[in-house]
Amino acid sequence: MKLPAKVKLVDVGPRDGLQNEKQHVPAAVKIELVHRLQEAGLREIEVTSFVSPKWVPQMADATEVMAGIHRKPGVRYSVLTPNMKGFEAAVGSRPHEVVVFAAASEAFSQRNINCSIEESIERFRPLVAAAKEENIYVRGAISCAVGCPYEGEISPERVAMVARMLKEIGVQHVGVADTIGTGTPTKVQHALEATLRHYDVADVSGHFHDTYGQALSNTLAAMELGIWQYDTSSAGLGGCPYAKGATGNVATEDVVYMLRGMDIDTGIHLDQLVDAGAFISEYLGRKPNSRAATALLNKRLN
Ligand code: HMG
Ligand code: MG
Repeated sequence: MKLPAKVKLVDVGPRDGLQNEKQHVPAAVKIELVHRLQEAGLREIEVTSFVSPKWVPQMADATEVMAGIHRKPGVRYSVLTPNMKGFEAAVGSRPHEVVVFAAASEAFSQRNINCSIEESIERFRPLVAAAKEENIYVRGAISCAVGCPYEGEISPERVAMVARMLKEIGVQHVGVADTIGTGTPTKVQHALEATLRHYDVADVSGHFHDTYGQALSNTLAAMELGIWQYDTSSAGLGGCPYAKGATGNVATEDVVYMLRGMDIDTGIHLDQLVDAGAFISEYLGRKPNSRAATALLNKRLN
């Protein structure tokens, strides 16, 4: 088994983590979470989404959140942009990276962004061109790369098709997303291998929700393919309002704990990360959804 020597984590907690929260989270709290994550050593943070506030009210403060962050040198900030309107709204906030999100399932594409897969690619085409003009990096996400809440299992061929379409319009990096967390290690590997037909291993990441408790195993399975970039979420927050029943992303704390134990450096300070997760969990009135965070918090009490 040849595992990558380094791993880069993108904390998507402020975006994926909070977008699914019913209670309003003030911009100041979101900003504080970003600050705590960067102090914990995160070098990439997915901050917010420039989506329709009618679709996702929690992200309506995207501009305010981006404006409120004290940027730390060396940290990259990314935001979701589903269309030109979102990109135009985002560009003034100077993100390092924008994320376009497609799906390997037609039904999910319709529910999540109100258009077919092919239409979504046509929407992204001018956005990718505009981002290049502005020197902004473009990442793509392929949702439902393993399973879909409406269509069931998704074949790797569908994933390869979407990866090819994203590559053709110039998307520079692709995140393979198990949106509803039904994936198991071999299925996730097949979705990743399908993506690797069109993208270099350095341009592919994993984004695994933990609904069925598989996300950490899926991360290790992806590492076996040489994938070294992952989206993770502090305190295991997360979910998509258009993927009912799906729970949070794999907890950043759990992944950092695993990698630390494997002597794979992430540059992240686990104790400070646990504090960041505890901060947002306390605001939301619940315990962190991370086994490692829970164990470390309990240990502090002894
Ligand atoms: P639509 O209704 O088809 O859009 O929604 P439209 O172009 O017909 O416009 C309708 C209205 O929305 C208009 O306003 C537009 O101005 C406005 P009105 O005239 O009615 O007042 N509008 C916008 N406002 C702000 N920002 C925008 C924007 N675009 C249009 N960018 C749309 C299409 C894509 C906008 C909508 O479906 C949407 O916002 N969807 C986002 C859903 C979402 O955020 N889902 C969660 C993120 S994806 C995810 O979580 C998956 C991921 O984590 C990976 C994984 O796990 O799978 C990434
Ligand atoms: Mg997600």
